[in-house]
Amino acid sequence: MAEGHVGTQATSVTINDGRAYGRPTGHSDTELVEVGPGTPAGELLRRYWQPFARSEEATTRPREIRMLSEDLILYRDGSGDPGLLEPRCCHRGTTLYFGRVEDNGIRCPYHGWLFGADGTCLDQPCEPDRGRNKESYRQPWYPVIEYNGLLFTYMGPPNKQPVFPRYEIFENLTDAEEIEIVDHFAFGGPSVAPCNWFQTHENVMDPYHVFILHNAISGPQFDPRLEIWPTINFQKHDWGITSTQDRRLDDGTMLHRIVETRFPNIRVIATPTLTVLGPTNNVSWAQPIDDTHTRVFAMVRKPKGQPAQGLPSYDGKTWFDLDEEGHQTNPGDYETQVGQGPITKHSLERLSSTDRGVSMVRRQFKEQLELVAKGGDPVGVSFEETDPPIDLIAGNYIVGPDTDLESVPLVSSLNERE
Ligand code: FES
Ligand SMILES: [Fe+2]
Repeated sequence: MAEGHVGTQATSVTINDGRAYGRPTGHSDTELVEVGPGTPAGELLRRYWQPFARSEEATTRPREIRMLSEDLILYRDGSGDPGLLEPRCCHRGTTLYFGRVEDNGIRCPYHGWLFGADGTCLDQPCEPDRGRNKESYRQPWYPVIEYNGLLFTYMGPPNKQPVFPRYEIFENLTDAEEIEIVDHFAFGGPSVAPCNWFQTHENVMDPYHVFILHNAISGPQFDPRLEIWPTINFQKHDWGITSTQDRRLDDGTMLHRIVETRFPNIRVIATPTLTVLGPTNNVSWAQPIDDTHTRVFAMVRKPKGQPAQGLPSYDGKTWFDLDEEGHQTNPGDYETQVGQGPITKHSLERLSSTDRGVSMVRRQFKEQLELVAKGGDPVGVSFEETDPPIDLIAGNYIVGPDTDLESVPLVSSLNERE
């Protein structure tokens, strides 16, 4: 009998023994993952100022930028102002990628029309009087704001443009401090990850993977005290979700660790190396380049000259030095999140009790999609110029008998006071 041949009679009995043959191919939850214009999540994301590049990427040489599935051209004119324009020239459509940057704008290489950062046409050299009617032409544009080394844009409807949010932790630096932008994937990985932004974002509310991935499998990748099994609480706020993790330390104090997601694509991590105690020193954004590419920017406040982020070490090597086998032996956030595929297939998931935080992030995101679809303003946008900088609550708080609990956020989740 040939190998694998089990009989000559066809049988009509279906056997479900879990083998791969005939399994469903699965699908993604498009509401969570699609970021293009007109999609529910795309419209929600477009209601916020979004980072899309480091300041030094804007130069007098035009650069292609892809953001929320839109292709754009970034440049910095001779007076220092960054501009973000549609590539296709509004005259006859060649790309401004080959344009020439001048003191006050970018000039199309084909017939020389000159555009300012707000899309206004400033010169039409082939037209009578260099464009008697040039005011009636406008190159599609988006506004740009620079903040602490990052370039942000607002890609939503003009009448819904919120004020630019600032953060308290980045105000009032001393002379001994500086802000640094880190744009490689968290704790090791390339700048651009070939996967959807949402699967990297929701990971922040998955504290359970810290014990398995970052400790039992590849660890300790961070401070070994994170190996202590904590009491975990999730909490929904107007602006996002928090997870609090409380660990009793050997000296009898409690490590009260808070991590936040903030709308729509902001994550605020308490430094896992525990080198920063008290309030956090960083904010990160997941930039949805398109449905299958993501870049994560972290803005870090730190003492001058110190590294912004400690990278896990594997016998003296960091993520960037590992070979393929090294990545298999020491997987981290990059391997596991990209490993979910370009866009994870939600229909194939088997969510369990430890996925509560992830479910909360998804549910809150969908609530806000619906709100925006009905014409409302999503959480976290403000139209008040006088609003103070935003206070964050993430951090690593050591709570002992003498700690003033008033100074510790979300202290109500502490399961026990020492
Ligand atoms: S195509 Fe740009 S000026 Fe003609
Ligand atoms: Fe992680």
